[in-house]
Amino acid sequence: MEIGILGYGTVGRSVYRLLQKVEGAHVKYVLEQPDRLTEAFMTSDADLIFEDPSVELIVDALPGIHPSYEYIKRGLQSGKHVVSSNKAAICYGFSELSELAMKKGVSLLYEASCGGGIPIIEEILRVGALDQLDRVSGILNGTSNYMLWQMESSGMSYDEALHQAQELGYAEADPTADVSGFDVRNKIIILSSLAFDTYVEKDIPVMGIERIGKELMEELQKQGKSIKLMGIAVREAKRYALAVTPVVLDRRSLEANVSENFNMISINGEFIGELKFYGQGAGGDPTADAVVRDIEKVLFLDSTRYQRSFKNSLSYDPDLLCGRCYIGDQAFEDMRLSEGMERAKSEDKFFAFEL
Ligand code: HSE
Repeated sequence: MEIGILGYGTVGRSVYRLLQKVEGAHVKYVLEQPDRLTEAFMTSDADLIFEDPSVELIVDALPGIHPSYEYIKRGLQSGKHVVSSNKAAICYGFSELSELAMKKGVSLLYEASCGGGIPIIEEILRVGALDQLDRVSGILNGTSNYMLWQMESSGMSYDEALHQAQELGYAEADPTADVSGFDVRNKIIILSSLAFDTYVEKDIPVMGIERIGKELMEELQKQGKSIKLMGIAVREAKRYALAVTPVVLDRRSLEANVSENFNMISINGEFIGELKFYGQGAGGDPTADAVVRDIEKVLFLDSTRYQRSFKNSLSYDPDLLCGRCYIGDQAFEDMRLSEGMERAKSEDKFFAFEL
């Protein structure tokens, strides 16, 4: 199968390397900037890739919504399978792109968009086909986890920790989405839409890690607690809610002990109970592994199995996320998360939810 890879950054480069091991896959083109065309297979002409009928599969390894979204759409419209690692673009055009893929009878796969190398989408689809999933939550951003881990374990400053995460290839080209919670927002929207089999609300409460300082971490440490940035989605019967928030955890919990760029994602099903998935959530090689596993589904399996119909009609109800909220140095019991977060933002204070 002839493949065109869009982008030759951290992920695109690793995908190219790993694909050399896959029999039946051949990279015909890599889309790159005009001033970076160092190999014969590289081109800066996107038309060349999309208009070549021998290219059956497009790998989108670009950052940000645009032009990824337009490229994914163009690929699907021209009857090509698309495998994307781009959570921002997938989340942005989720319903439209999923429906287009179904209409065209091609695959749109995006395992690498959530949780790096962790096969979380595959498992949500597999478990969710049988069991009703009523919760998806977890640490879904490697950069912010790396930063919180360094700040907590070695007393590193916020800026130093961010710089290191960038050097290690975990952060986005523009790391704002990593630290502001928007990267987690994209991921929890994708995962909960698949888990609940509906296109979930996109305007959800989001708070990042920008207001978390060393003093707060030291104070939490004294109390035997830890802080992590998490995405949380819950469902009760026909209602659901989701949010992205710093979470205060007991230091003995599994999540509190997730270090470096690792992610940990939990799903909860009516029959199966709780399942937890742990692995590298960021970085070129783990993410490429997820991309290539998706390509193998197109090559060797019935990749249409890896789709949802998004048939459930559920309503968004922020009341489902209620509990202990921290606003600045005060704690409030039984507060609605969305209300607490709004208040913290308006008062320019730190916010966290306790799990
Ligand atoms: N910047 C993202 C992260 C990459 O740190 O998790 C993986 O999606």
